[in-house]
Amino acid sequence: MQKNDIGVIGMAVMGRNLSLNIANHGYHVSIFNRTATKTKQMIAKNNHKNIFPYFQIQDFVNSLSSPKCILLMVKSGKPTDETISTIIPYLNSGDIIIDGGNSFYKDTIVRYQLLLKHEIRFIGSGISGGEYGALTGPAIMPGGSKKAYDIIFPILKKISAKFNEEPCVSYVGPDGAGHYVKMVHNGIEYADMQLISETYCILKKLLNLSNKNISKIFDTWNQGELNSYLIEITKNIFTKKDNSGEYLIDIILDEAVGKGTGKWTCQEALSLNQPLNIITESVFARYLSSLKSQRMLASQILAGPNIAPIVYNKEDFIEKLRQALYLSKIIAYTQGFAQLSSASKKYYWNLNCSNIAKIFRSGCIIQSSCLHEIVKIYKYDNVIINLLLSPIFQEIANKYQHSLREVVSYSIMQGISIPAFSSAMTYYDGYRTEKSSANLIQAQRDYFGAHTYKRYDKAGIYHTNWIKE
Ligand code: ATR
Repeated sequence: MQKNDIGVIGMAVMGRNLSLNIANHGYHVSIFNRTATKTKQMIAKNNHKNIFPYFQIQDFVNSLSSPKCILLMVKSGKPTDETISTIIPYLNSGDIIIDGGNSFYKDTIVRYQLLLKHEIRFIGSGISGGEYGALTGPAIMPGGSKKAYDIIFPILKKISAKFNEEPCVSYVGPDGAGHYVKMVHNGIEYADMQLISETYCILKKLLNLSNKNISKIFDTWNQGELNSYLIEITKNIFTKKDNSGEYLIDIILDEAVGKGTGKWTCQEALSLNQPLNIITESVFARYLSSLKSQRMLASQILAGPNIAPIVYNKEDFIEKLRQALYLSKIIAYTQGFAQLSSASKKYYWNLNCSNIAKIFRSGCIIQSSCLHEIVKIYKYDNVIINLLLSPIFQEIANKYQHSLREVVSYSIMQGISIPAFSSAMTYYDGYRTEKSSANLIQAQRDYFGAHTYKRYDKAGIYHTNWIKE
């Protein structure tokens, strides 16, 4: 009996489209889903000659050639553990499980260890690109067993997105590294989206621009250094009309939600002592947006300025806004990559940031021109302490910081909430401040808690009796 090359468990949208993507590249794919109707629906909709449905887990696993290779595309958390438990009894030493879901990296580390005991090779892989990317070529971030990676690389290479014919997949690092990188990717995505939505708010409220004109501006920006997937789709969003003829963007409720990967990134930043303030503010901005009824009430009670739209030199301000957006985006990526470097040290992952930036260049949500610069910077120096210090980004920062400052101060004076822009500015100013006000924090800590402090004028640790002296 002919055996198939790979099995996919989980026929929700990502699992379905990845199965089709693999089958379209000539591989024979076994598919399985906990609920049989989804498998039947998949086959009814896509009667692909390379896809073979199974309705018993044992038949599914037995249909695979050795080493058996199974891609899990099921809900993260308990469902992933349950699915792994059901297939373990049918697997042999050297077989491979790839978890392509949005698992928390610490769960991936635990699963890696568990499967090691069963001599099963485990890969935790970030897969980005959404529904369309899964079908046409996602960015893939595999971590875990290097041996397993080498075995499945030919498939991953074929199904991944390509940038200048280079596949957007490479081995990220051991155990949880793949899912960690995907988590930070999603955090950067939160920041990118929040910055763009604040830009939209400014264009609409401070410049009084129509949806059509906002779309044109994003279109123009997409031709330059801001070129990215998110700017591209944003441009399209502003021209989309509902069946009623109204612009869809004006009908969509302003309450943003998320699936938790942004929150994980921030929680990790806190545990690594990383100043990831743009991503964190972007997560908080979604939480604040969800307080819709409170915001409606507060809008009637709490005072703010009446917005005075910009009438003169609109073009100038739009260019400043573009510069502010680009610099803030660079700072968000700087923070995300600094977190990756910090995690790499803590977990001994030896992450190659240039290769990670390469994976992000196509197929994923944060693909953008600025990643080409990041690839170059890390290729030259994989341990650079901060991307803003690279010659390329320091030049941009020194040129654009005035614009960011102006956009932030003007928006604040006009009462427009810009958490991501303002945190980019405060991070920038904080980072370039040689002498900060943290000396006072240390004095206060020593005053009330005898927590000690260091001094400029001599080495050592000091404590002062603040009350008596
Ligand atoms: P969606 O992406 O459409 O929101 P989901 O609820 O996240 O779907 O589920 C994704 C996949 O995980 C589905 O294939 C789902 O199987 P069902 O179609 O049977 O619901 C699978 N899944 C969810 N919980 C599971 C569990 N406890 N065991 C096995 N598979 C599970």
